[in-house]
Amino acid sequence: MTKRVRKAVVPVAGLGTRVLPGSKTTPKELLNVVDRPILSYVVEEARAAGIEHFVFVTGRGKGAIEDYFDHHIELEAQLAAKGKTDILADVVRDLPKPGEMSFVRQMAPLGLGHAVWCARDIIGDEPFAVILPDMLMMAKTSAMAQVVQAHEKVGGNIIAVEPAPAGETHKYGIVALDGREGRLNRMTGMVEKPPLGTEPSNLLISGRYVLQPEIFALLARQGKGAGGEIQLTDSMVELMKAQTFHALEYDGITYDCGDKIGLLRANVAFALARPDLADAARAAIRDLL
Ligand code: UTP
Repeated sequence: MTKRVRKAVVPVAGLGTRVLPGSKTTPKELLNVVDRPILSYVVEEARAAGIEHFVFVTGRGKGAIEDYFDHHIELEAQLAAKGKTDILADVVRDLPKPGEMSFVRQMAPLGLGHAVWCARDIIGDEPFAVILPDMLMMAKTSAMAQVVQAHEKVGGNIIAVEPAPAGETHKYGIVALDGREGRLNRMTGMVEKPPLGTEPSNLLISGRYVLQPEIFALLARQGKGAGGEIQLTDSMVELMKAQTFHALEYDGITYDCGDKIGLLRANVAFALARPDLADAARAAIRDLL
């Protein structure tokens, strides 16, 4: 029997260099897509996957994330007094139950692997989800739920993947598969940003994982890898010597909101997908074009 995935690590301590200067004072994970911060969509996706506890790995200047997931007494009282009940409902929609979220400081953005390691004490000895919040996913069934379902089926470690745009595999973490049949396949390796022509497949690592707790011991002694950062990929490659990894080609579309054009695309796509905004959004886009 596989243990249920109850907790998610959400690393939010990165510098957001690609969307500066906006991310200088607003954490990039709180930038709006239409009218909600990116993290609002991500938390909703994770809850739909059965996640009960969120561990945010934060850093300097990210305090607004904690505030977003807490009551704003004055604002809520004002909205209630003015009878703006719809807006009030939207404002409190993402609030956790008390105790459902933890915040740990990474203290220096040494890389994704280091960020995940910072959550070790709160996760303890159980399988857990990792969600990279800047990868925003539009899917009929929550992307994280698809990964959790795959874990319930085959156990071990699961990584969500998707086809990379043609000629762009060198920009991503890429997986190697032991044969490719259907959407869930056993992995034999993975590599961070392989030079063009050396990529083991066209499938990039999308930013949703289920990992086993044994990863923490490997992260503890992981040295710097690609880009001088402590890479999660390097420890996953180590763990693969002892445990199974499966890649799930998840059903949905990813928007990289850590990138200027990715964020723009996400705004357009999510506005067009909103019944209350689709017509006006389409008219505005047509007008601009
Ligand atoms: P990214 O590499 O996309 O984020 O990491 P970044 O470093 O903020 O972006 P750029 O390259 O400077 O524009 C993916 C996720 O991992 C977090 C980031 O906050 C982001 O959500 N992260 C990354 C950490 O929490 N700590 C790190 O040391 C690195």
